[in-house]
Amino acid sequence: MDNYFTEKTNFYGNTTPQELIEIYGSPLYVYNESILRQRCREMTSLVSYPHVTVNYSSKANSNLELLKIIREEGLHADAISPGEVYVLLKAGYKPNEIFYISNNISKDEMLYVIDQGILMSVDSLAQLKQFGEINPGGSVAVRLNPGIGVGHHKKVITAGEETKFGINLEYIPQIKDIAKKYNLNIVGINHHLGSLFMDGDIFIEGAKLLLSAAEQFSNLEFIDIGGGFGIPYRKQEGEPRLELKEFGNKLTQVLKKWANNYGNNIKFKIEPGRYIVAECGVVLGTVHAKKQNNQTTYIGGDLGFNVLARPMLYDSYHDIEVYKKSLSNNNESYEKVTIVGNICESGDIIAKDRLLPTIEEGDILGVMDAGAYGYSMSSNYNNRLRPAEVLIKSDGSHMLIRRRDTLDDLMRNFII
Ligand code: LLP
Repeated sequence: MDNYFTEKTNFYGNTTPQELIEIYGSPLYVYNESILRQRCREMTSLVSYPHVTVNYSSKANSNLELLKIIREEGLHADAISPGEVYVLLKAGYKPNEIFYISNNISKDEMLYVIDQGILMSVDSLAQLKQFGEINPGGSVAVRLNPGIGVGHHKKVITAGEETKFGINLEYIPQIKDIAKKYNLNIVGINHHLGSLFMDGDIFIEGAKLLLSAAEQFSNLEFIDIGGGFGIPYRKQEGEPRLELKEFGNKLTQVLKKWANNYGNNIKFKIEPGRYIVAECGVVLGTVHAKKQNNQTTYIGGDLGFNVLARPMLYDSYHDIEVYKKSLSNNNESYEKVTIVGNICESGDIIAKDRLLPTIEEGDILGVMDAGAYGYSMSSNYNNRLRPAEVLIKSDGSHMLIRRRDTLDDLMRNFII
């Protein structure tokens, strides 16, 4: 069961986790270029309809080098903040390749996006009005709430009954009134059901709802049916992948049929984040202390929730691989352990009650599928330094793509 993922994919190229930690320090994010490119290609070939754009949702991981590779693969991007726009532009994305999906933003932020020549969606009547006031006659998209949502945790369901996102469909007449008042051109509608589905039918059901809402608008240029494409986080237990072929075919049929009625120039967008980057990333850490507290064997090291927040935030599950310090320790015994970090909260747990090969101090742990919402949600909590990031290139060589924080970085914004 151990080493299932990285061994099958030759993840570390010409090097080893031990060597990478020696060179770049611990903890360390490691990404594999070939896997990244493969996932991009799976998404760009999902739908066979000529006018589909795949917008990578850069909140999942906005490392400059990864963004460049994703663009090379032909993807565009979505952004939710001026910071994401800024980094995307630095990575070479053109303004017309970025779609800004806003939520509760100030006039200044709207102006920044408009000045960059980037199209945005707004997701409330109040924000549509604000857009009209500062940019009368402009083009804009509106984010709708189709009435159903999906997600691996209630905190990441972004449509349906309980969410701050989107405009409910019954307000479409008011959208039109505001658009008329400010002479706005509603060029697109978008939605995002939520993050992580493993059954494509729910995505298609949502898309159909959005398409039927689209019929109430006359001059749309595009419809963006969102992201949320899931990945199997329990590969060691044999969890199957999202089945793309049949799902892609079904989706293609639905979109083509609808486009034939509406007018063939309509474009569609999808917005995968996790699917593109999750599986190309592993975060490595080092074990410093093993101890027994009551019934639990704790394996303590430098993989705290400052490094990977998902388990703490959503009780998310990530497969763990164990890389022994030396081969002589590599006995075949297993034990049930809980893996914790070095942050001063008891919730600082990366993996609970896992049956893993016996772990000792000095061993290295790999947390799998950490490429999405890993580094991008890491923090300096406890004044810890955020890790470095390394890319294993397609030729097997390794390259530093973000240096580790330094102590001086912690002082950067103080007025001294
Ligand atoms: N489009 C919009 C408007 C979004 O808000 C998101 C993600 C995406 C696309 C991409 O969703 P994806 O394909 O990655 O599921 N931090 C959480 C996930 C939060 C997702 C937020 N929105 C996690 O670690 O699971």
